[in-house]
Amino acid sequence: MLKTKNLAGRVVAVTGAGGGIGRELALLCARRRADLALCDINDAAVAETADAARTVGAQVLSTRVDVSDAEAMTRFAGATFARFGRVDLLVNNAGVGLVGGFLDTSRKDWEWLIGINLMGVVHGCDAFLPGMIGPGRGGHVVNLSSAAGVLANPQLTAYSATKFAVFGLSEALRMELKPHGIGVTAVCPGIINTAITQTSPIRGSGDIDQRRTRLASTYAKRGYTAERVAHNILRAVDRNRAVAPIAAEAHAMYGLSRAVPPLARWAAARLAELAK
Ligand SMILES: NC(=O)c1ccc[n+]([C@@H]2O[C@H](COP(=O)([O-])OP(=O)(O)OC[C@H]3O[C@@H](n4cnc5c(N)ncnc54)[C@H](O)[C@@H]3O)[C@@H](O)[C@H]2O)c1
Repeated sequence: MLKTKNLAGRVVAVTGAGGGIGRELALLCARRRADLALCDINDAAVAETADAARTVGAQVLSTRVDVSDAEAMTRFAGATFARFGRVDLLVNNAGVGLVGGFLDTSRKDWEWLIGINLMGVVHGCDAFLPGMIGPGRGGHVVNLSSAAGVLANPQLTAYSATKFAVFGLSEALRMELKPHGIGVTAVCPGIINTAITQTSPIRGSGDIDQRRTRLASTYAKRGYTAERVAHNILRAVDRNRAVAPIAAEAHAMYGLSRAVPPLARWAAARLAELAK
């Protein structure tokens, strides 16, 4: 099983590495001496992460990829194996948020969200796994689900649906890949202070600017950083965890949803009021 204390000679591929959790995880792996294959839909942002990683000595391939584009992901994986000859850790991190209940969410919203949050993970696994399995060296896959992927939130209906799907995919994949020595972890962060509060479309009634300000201020007050998430993700890889809730609220939501589902639903409904 992969150990991440010293990643010298290892290659880590991260999607959505231009900001937030993906950026911090890429830089942490670089500091632990990994070489990196990074992609993001924002080329300037991923180029900036790549430069920062090079300054600590990493070899980096970085490119613009939209993870919802299967062909582009296949090209990204091909370029990665051509450059480095291996991938030890694949992190399907790229994802987008969308605030709104079912009645506020259009079919176009659903397609956009499913394309990135679910199919992005499918495309990442599809493109990289054959090259990870083939040599028989083992490795690890990290998929970013969410606390909203273990306890549904009625103000994040479509988002929750995609993150539940990623959770289920990860659980099944973990069992399938075990004979190949490849671990799979579903990472379920709680409230993490990243740009996701600025970029997620907000649907429904009310003053959208006010709702965004409230959302951003809740995340900022919580103050849990992407850097802390990155450390906790690598700890979960070291322990080969199937599920990694991150931040106290995610542990509580995961635990409650398993132990006392009615109480968990009550708490989720109260929490959702914050997003209205
Ligand atoms: N921030 C949170 O509170 C939180 C909580 C639970 C789960 N997550 C999940 O963690 C992951 C990272 O989120 P974050 O908070 O760091 O968000 P972020 O917005 O800070 O970063 C996401 C990165 O992904 C990139 N990206 C977006 N769409 C893309 C696409 N189609 N193709 C390639 N790259 C794309 C963005 O450009 C950005 O650099 C996401 O999957 C998110 O759903 C975040």
